[in-house]
Amino acid sequence: MQNISRRKWLQKSLLASTAVLIGSRALAFDFGETPTSTYAFKELLRLNWNENPYGPSQSALEAATKALKSANRYPDALNNKLIEAIATKLGVKNEEVMITAGSTEVLSLLGQHAGLLSGEIVTPWPSFPTMMHFGKVSGASVKHVPLDNEDRLDLNAVLKSIGPNTRLLFICNPNNPTSTEVDPESLRSFCRSVPENVLICVDEAYIEFSSHGAKASMMPLVKELPNLIVCRTFSKAYGLAGMRLGYAVSQNINISELSKRHNGYGMATSVASVAGALAALEDPGFIKMCVTENAKGRQILYDAFDQWKVAYNKSSTNFVYARAEHFVPDVVEKLSEQNVMITKWPIMKNHIRISIGKPEHMSQFVQIVESFLS
Ligand SMILES: Cc1ncc(COP(=O)(O)O)c(C=O)c1O
Repeated sequence: MQNISRRKWLQKSLLASTAVLIGSRALAFDFGETPTSTYAFKELLRLNWNENPYGPSQSALEAATKALKSANRYPDALNNKLIEAIATKLGVKNEEVMITAGSTEVLSLLGQHAGLLSGEIVTPWPSFPTMMHFGKVSGASVKHVPLDNEDRLDLNAVLKSIGPNTRLLFICNPNNPTSTEVDPESLRSFCRSVPENVLICVDEAYIEFSSHGAKASMMPLVKELPNLIVCRTFSKAYGLAGMRLGYAVSQNINISELSKRHNGYGMATSVASVAGALAALEDPGFIKMCVTENAKGRQILYDAFDQWKVAYNKSSTNFVYARAEHFVPDVVEKLSEQNVMITKWPIMKNHIRISIGKPEHMSQFVQIVESFLS
């Protein structure tokens, strides 16, 4: 990872942060109007942000609640414990792990890194846009590489798109919003083929839902490839989205470079979130239950879509990406009038994305959305 002078960082980061502050107004979420404290209200189906309807687990909740008694203390000691627990679980060194307030922080740091170098970010498209947003506002250019005909990452096309100014690749696998995944072996050989001066960020936010199980992860490649950064989150399968905890794993040279510019300065997390995450890591039964139940909820949606002949991608995640044509054109707005939230980003063109709730939520959703078939 290239060094960037502190002055340049400050200049660029001020520019970038102004843009982010202005931009974020559009994203403001009014918690006063939209109840979020529990998942399923009779009047609300929150199927828009790929959250976990089961979380947090009992053990995470208890640990987080207990930790609040230490809320007068900085979280440094607990952070170190979490870093060690993650490193042990993944078989890497402590100094190869960085914990952040959600993986959004890792993606933004990496995007800004590419921007400070006035470099190019190459990304399959559509994909999760956070890194590219932060890259652009910090001075990076972005090259979009279309997905293949089955909405999967086109790894060969990404390789061919790497140019002299490319500094960073964003590889989201499984991919948000399309819910597809690539074959792990192809991804491994892709990562090995990327030139060493180009960083690869593999975003594994949904890896626990992969149909390939643990082999889907690129984590074991971190030892081998100095240009690989894998990021993960506690927001999805672990059910801790509101706790804001994510992490990056990479060789120490990258982690220490990222850490220098980490606004949280190694302390962006809270004692409660770290204690919750520590407990969650030790509760694989909870993840297994969530993955199993997610598949049941997903099947309810598949069955309805099959019956209505709505085309969709088989999902390796906790959401489903479906063609929108069979529904009325303003289906998202119509649903939201009934307090049913689903997603349609402009980059999704003719698709909608539905997060998977508990099976009963999906049955309820199917009943409601049926009235908006066109
Ligand atoms: C692919 C992907 N990466 C990263 C994130 C950010 O997650 P968080 O900041 O909650 O860890 C999300 C959130 O939806 C996501 O879908």
